[in-house]
Amino acid sequence: MTPHTPAIPRYSRIVGTGSMLPPRRVTNADLAADLARRGIDTSDEWIVARTGIHARHFAEPGVPASDLAVVAARHALEAAGCGPEGIDLIIVATSTPDMVFPSTACIVQAKLGIQGCPAFDVQAVCSGFVYALTVADAMIRAGSASRALVIGAEVFSRLLDFNDRTTCVLFGDGAGAVVLEASECPGLLATDLHADGRHVGILCVPGHVSGGQVSGHPLLQMDGQAVFKLAVGVLEQAARRVLAKAGREESDIDWLIPHQANIRIMQGTARKLRMPLDKLIVTVDEHGNTSAASIPLALDVALRSGRVQRGDTLLLEGVGGGFTWGAVLLDL
Ligand code: UT7
Repeated sequence: MTPHTPAIPRYSRIVGTGSMLPPRRVTNADLAADLARRGIDTSDEWIVARTGIHARHFAEPGVPASDLAVVAARHALEAAGCGPEGIDLIIVATSTPDMVFPSTACIVQAKLGIQGCPAFDVQAVCSGFVYALTVADAMIRAGSASRALVIGAEVFSRLLDFNDRTTCVLFGDGAGAVVLEASECPGLLATDLHADGRHVGILCVPGHVSGGQVSGHPLLQMDGQAVFKLAVGVLEQAARRVLAKAGREESDIDWLIPHQANIRIMQGTARKLRMPLDKLIVTVDEHGNTSAASIPLALDVALRSGRVQRGDTLLLEGVGGGFTWGAVLLDL
């Protein structure tokens, strides 16, 4: 019989972050002027007051999500000090894939010159990055992967109905990425994912490709108030669940990095967790809602600006179409 050797605990840890915003910055005033030409009335004042958004970035026509993802991934690899050859898992969270299939993750894999490792997309809309990070963490802890690229990448502008002022002012394009590596110490402390498909209809793009045609309505539709109400409740619940799972307190959180959809939802969540608002990372003002890309984009911006530092405890929270939501508590 071989002598019993205690297993070394295996966790996952973020070792590098990166992001990419398309160069074209569109201010509220730019957008309002563009919509006015279509006879649609909106204003910088309304958008700022209701959402906190001042500007967003739009990719040029023909630029796919994978192009944004690859740039973000390269920055994350550089920050992690490793090359693409060291990656053994790629997960891309996106609702705006380059093609119906194959996955955007396979396209990213090819563009990075990586071969052989598993690569797949996660579709959980604005909760996509939290879902993807949770899956990567589970695969690393199970020993199926050692160093993963986890990416959120979106060209959400392609899904917008520019005749619908209630939605087209809210979203933007971008990508964020992290390198998640196996580690003897955590890293990710706790994760918590949920979905409730009864609410499919409140935030959706109800179209599909069939017989060579687009069927249905292939542009974003949202009942903003219904999403708002659900979001505020579930974000608090998910936060409390990850804290309980990790045996931590609200006061242990150094930074709250929620999905960047609306400053009012984000501040509401911080208040419910009794967190001072200066512990809230806000990029919605400059990025708009970039769906699955918003959390890794905000994380990268906060880390590179020096606000968030190694060793800090972060609460990441996603919420969006599905209805889906979830949280990840981690030590950076
Ligand atoms: O990423 C996934 C998660 N998504 C979200 O978290 C989004 C959640 N929802 C929201 O953020 C908010 O519900 C919105 C920002 C979408 C809307 O804010 P609201 O405070 O709920 O506004 P509302 O829908 O109640 O609309 C208020 C008024 C309406 O006019 P009346 O009926 O009061 O005359 C709208 O027609 O504002 C009007 N309105 C606008 N006015 C100027 C709606 N959109 C616009 C606009 N410009 N762009």
